[in-house]
Amino acid sequence: MDIQIFENAHEASKKAVDFFEKALEKNQNVFGLATGSTPEALYEQLIDSSLDFSDAIAINLDEYYGLPANHPQSYAYFMEEHLFNAKPFKKTYIPNGENTNVSEEIDRYNTVLAENPIDLQLLGIGQNGHIGFNEPGSSSTEKTRLVDLTQETIMANSRFFSDQSEVPTQAYSMGLASIMSASQILLLAFGENKAEAIKAMIEGPVTSEVPASILQNHPNVTVLLDKEAAKLL
Ligand code: GLP
Repeated sequence: MDIQIFENAHEASKKAVDFFEKALEKNQNVFGLATGSTPEALYEQLIDSSLDFSDAIAINLDEYYGLPANHPQSYAYFMEEHLFNAKPFKKTYIPNGENTNVSEEIDRYNTVLAENPIDLQLLGIGQNGHIGFNEPGSSSTEKTRLVDLTQETIMANSRFFSDQSEVPTQAYSMGLASIMSASQILLLAFGENKAEAIKAMIEGPVTSEVPASILQNHPNVTVLLDKEAAKLL
């Protein structure tokens, strides 16, 4: 893993823009994208840049189960608001949270991933070390699936909802195997509340208890941190 530490999230996100630029230059135009507050500064900078994604494909990591795409807290809505409306892509994919035919949705998404191998996968990290919505205990061999969210994740994500009881308890997520099949991975983490997860991911053993630790086994991972997220390293 290549670990780079920056003064703040803005500087780290600026570096992340370079990765997107280099990928586009090399015609590596299938991007695995993430939601959450972490990539917001990066998406703002991509919007402000002259980079052209009109030939690029975006494949998102995950979506809450049960939320329609037009729900303000759905990840589909987040992506439109934070990136796609201002920076159009040729094609964007995200799990359909409204599809209650779970095996059909999983098959559909795994086909999307098989047909569009990801060149650059962007990741954030949960405080418990989850990536996408692959919570502790997730198997390294899983592809897309429906996951039960941990209480910790529901609480952490409740800040975006008016009440904790409104946070969905399940989500469709690309699995660890799907994430590991990307050619290159870029993980961003900012803030002190990520410091323990970052230490465990980088310095701890590879264990399903810290799903992000599996990235130690990937040949091309860059981790961009602010000083706070790096403080326990
Ligand atoms: C969610 C998402 C993850 C994200 C994590 C951290 O649970 N499924 O993809 O990395 O939260 O979110 P944040 O960036 O808001 O801290």
